[in-house]
Amino acid sequence: MKGKYTILITGGAGFIGSHVVRRFIKRYPDYQIINLDALTYAGNLANLKDIEATPQYLFVKGDVCDVALVQKLFADYAIDAVIHLAAESHVDRSILDPFAFARTNVMGTLTLLQAAKEFWAGSGAGNHLFYHVSTDEVYGSLEGDGFFTETTPYDPHSPYSASKASSDHFVRAYRDTYGLPVVISNCSNNYGPCQFPEKLIPLFIRNICQNKPLPVYGTGQNVRDWLYVEDHVQAIDLIFHRGRRGETYNIGGCNEWKNIDLVRLLVRITDRLLERASGSSDGLITFVTDRAGHDLRYAIDASKLTGALGWAPSLGFEEGLERTVRWYLDNQEWLEQVSSGAYRDYYEKVYGGRA
Ligand code: NAD
Ligand code: DAU
Repeated sequence: MKGKYTILITGGAGFIGSHVVRRFIKRYPDYQIINLDALTYAGNLANLKDIEATPQYLFVKGDVCDVALVQKLFADYAIDAVIHLAAESHVDRSILDPFAFARTNVMGTLTLLQAAKEFWAGSGAGNHLFYHVSTDEVYGSLEGDGFFTETTPYDPHSPYSASKASSDHFVRAYRDTYGLPVVISNCSNNYGPCQFPEKLIPLFIRNICQNKPLPVYGTGQNVRDWLYVEDHVQAIDLIFHRGRRGETYNIGGCNEWKNIDLVRLLVRITDRLLERASGSSDGLITFVTDRAGHDLRYAIDASKLTGALGWAPSLGFEEGLERTVRWYLDNQEWLEQVSSGAYRDYYEKVYGGRA
């Protein structure tokens, strides 16, 4: 007999995924949540310490490319819906190793789509949904004014964005060819607690604390549209429950910053919270060789989401940044473990032999 509504969340030990898992566990006690995560360098179960003992939560260590495992999870747990976040997510790594990105982001997505299609075809009418979490980088680079809308043609430039674009195309192909109930969201740059310190904001917070150089790529004129992670996750919740099947929603904070201006603000806030004299870390800012294929500007038009579902970001940028810096300062152990690799022991300690 079918029990609770069961959601397979992939990549739930990562940055955004851990916030999604926590929100769904706390807000929806009637759901069963299965977190499938390979625990790559970016996956960290310490992100979920506070909810790991909840009975409605199950962690499975595994790869989204593992066809047999994914099929077994659908069958064993009668998966009703998928929220797919597992991915290789860092642009600089994709420049060094594009194949890893094609494997996880394209083949992993395809593996999940196929398993959902096969399982749901045989399981009768149900409230099924395949929710694919994607990025604004699929739209390419804005060279002047204007914004990405849901109909902006895809124009990816990095191996990362090419792999995410490809995965989006597969999701729509399964919608159109097999009638799979899908929804896609494309979000702008996230920031907040638990982001791996390879991405701009946590890397620079760590380096300011340690008096290390802050490597700004090129001239620092590139523009990103920043959104606090919990605002992204609130949008995912809304779209999951009220979004129209088959549709795409852009998510963005309407919050564009040139990298160099953001870095200056971050230095100011971090110095203040460290009780250092204002300006004492300015000299750490160092201009370095630009990222290959570096997109100039991303900016999201989120009016479809705000109009249809009433979503709006809850947090101003300075407040969100300050909250983020405080979190990293209060969680030095997390930062040290992530930097040293010690966080990898956590799985063995907590789940050794039973996940
Ligand atoms: P992240 O790198 O922090 O986490 C990725 C998670 O996926 C990790 O827990 C990792 O262990 C897991 N994973 C990687 N390969 C796997 C595999 N083969 N099988 C199972 N699990 C695997 O990423 P993030 O920043 O939290 O991004 C999550 C999703 O959101 C990604 O799909 C990304 O493209 C998308 N996204 C991210 C941002 C952002 O600013 N970070 C913005 C828009 C969209
Ligand atoms: O737009 C959404 C995307 O945002 C997500 O899909 C990606 O998963 C996520 O990593 C992020 O991509 P970016 O490349 O924009 O993020 P990153 O933090 O790597 O870089 C932000 C900007 O800062 C970018 O213009 C490059 C620049 N940068 C980054 C690093 C790590 C630097 O100048 N120096 C750095 O050391």
